[in-house]
Amino acid sequence: MLVLIKENSHQMSLEGALQVATQIKLKPDSVIGFATGSTPLDMYKELIRMHKDEGLDFSKIVSFNLDEYVGLHPTHPESYHYFMWENLFKHININPTNVHIPMGMADNISEFCNWYEQKINSYGGIDLQILGIGANGHIAFNEPGSSLGSRTRIKTLGQKTRLDNSRFFNEIDEVPQYAITMGVGTIMEAKKLLLLASGLNKADAIKATVEGPIMAKYPATIVQYHRYATIIIDKEAASQLEGEYIDSSL
Ligand code: GLP
Repeated sequence: MLVLIKENSHQMSLEGALQVATQIKLKPDSVIGFATGSTPLDMYKELIRMHKDEGLDFSKIVSFNLDEYVGLHPTHPESYHYFMWENLFKHININPTNVHIPMGMADNISEFCNWYEQKINSYGGIDLQILGIGANGHIAFNEPGSSLGSRTRIKTLGQKTRLDNSRFFNEIDEVPQYAITMGVGTIMEAKKLLLLASGLNKADAIKATVEGPIMAKYPATIVQYHRYATIIIDKEAASQLEGEYIDSSL
């Protein structure tokens, strides 16, 4: 696991974008796993800039998103479909038929989840999976207590996650109670992981993820087992770490 500590969250985003761009340049038909949340927003802005100014070509990539709220229509402004199109996809030359985001309105959710797993496999798996992290150590919507071998499925959202995400809704009661999420096992099968975190409210989760014991209480801790995981964090998110990590200036 490579831990890169950057001066601030903007530097974190630039580094993240550089790593995603490098992946796409090396393999133009890369399968990229995308994440939502406020953390990757600035990185997505930089990827859009790279597309517009430098011609970074997304036309052959295939995308799979980590998760989606159950019950939100893709046109709902807080759905992850809407988020991805507004904040990235509509600004780049991705082929819409290559975009995959869990269907929160699926009639048969377990059938949909099996289909999603098969679809990922049909492309040979995910080359690079972008991840954020919840303040409680969740990845995607794999809440504390999630099985570390879990696959794409429906999860009940914990009170902490609903509270954290209520900032995007009018009130907490509007935050859906369930989500479809790639499992921890699904995420771990990606060939590379890129986990981003910034801010003091992520410092405990990062401490547990990088230096704590691996446990279902903090699903993100499993990334310690991944052979090609890169953690890009700002100084605030790194503030609880005790180990020596690569200097942000390197
Ligand atoms: C949500 C998403 C996660 C994301 C997390 C952190 O719960 N399902 O994929 O990592 O929020 O979000 P933020 O980046 O806004 O802190």
